[in-house]
Amino acid sequence: MIDFDAIQKTLNQSFAIYRDSHQGALPFTDALFCAQDVIRNRAFFQAIQIAVTDLKFQFHSVYVIDAGCGTGLLGLYALLSGADQCVFIDNNPDAIAFTRLILTQFQLMDRATIVLGDAKLYQPSHPFHLLISETIVSGFVEEDFLPIITHLKTYLEPEGLVIPQAFQVKITERPSGSAHSISLESKTIPTDFSVLPSDSTVEVIELAMDTQLYGAIWLKSGDCLSYCNPRILQ
Ligand SMILES: C[S@@+](CC[C@H](N)C(=O)[O-])C[C@H]1O[C@@H](n2cnc3c(N)ncnc32)[C@H](O)[C@@H]1O
Repeated sequence: MIDFDAIQKTLNQSFAIYRDSHQGALPFTDALFCAQDVIRNRAFFQAIQIAVTDLKFQFHSVYVIDAGCGTGLLGLYALLSGADQCVFIDNNPDAIAFTRLILTQFQLMDRATIVLGDAKLYQPSHPFHLLISETIVSGFVEEDFLPIITHLKTYLEPEGLVIPQAFQVKITERPSGSAHSISLESKTIPTDFSVLPSDSTVEVIELAMDTQLYGAIWLKSGDCLSYCNPRILQ
């Protein structure tokens, strides 16, 4: 039985030992902030646990990629849930150093491959079954989620899974007040999807995004502090 609170406690103790040398495109403290968001983490933990269990019914071995791994905790959840191997990728050297530390603490280095680099360019040596990428600030506008999954899902087994699985994006335009929602599945999301309007009369866009992590596990816009808060884009 894997205990979410025990994992979080071990992580919390490790947060005291980190380095932010500001070498990454994003400061490592961003990833650290996410990793302390227990509401977000619990939802990802549940989603990953169920997804790995489902995959274990179909595949003899389950290979995972955690693209934009930050502290490494999402791939860690996958390994602790029974995944056989996980590749952890981040383009921030501090994130990579921390991921190595965490995996060593959990004695999981023998099932991990740790890569410092751009997840948009990474070429897995064999197909894999689960792609995890929490590289979203809000609405796919500031991080590389879309190009990362577009690139990496070409290496995903046809029955493989992506976490987050899908999104419900609500876009409200001001001053007109017109609103519309878009449903997006990670496995089929268009690379050029944009929430920005082509209409120049739009002064402000309010964006809210609910995320289906996997199956019945959702994170709604505003549920937690570090992930997909409602926001103004323009
Ligand atoms: C918001 S943090 C989340 C970290 C972790 N996935 C989690 O959920 O706790 C996003 C991470 O993705 C990394 N990242 C963003 N774009 C990347 C890219 N193109 N290649 C590799 N890492 C990337 C950042 O350096 C950062 O560590």
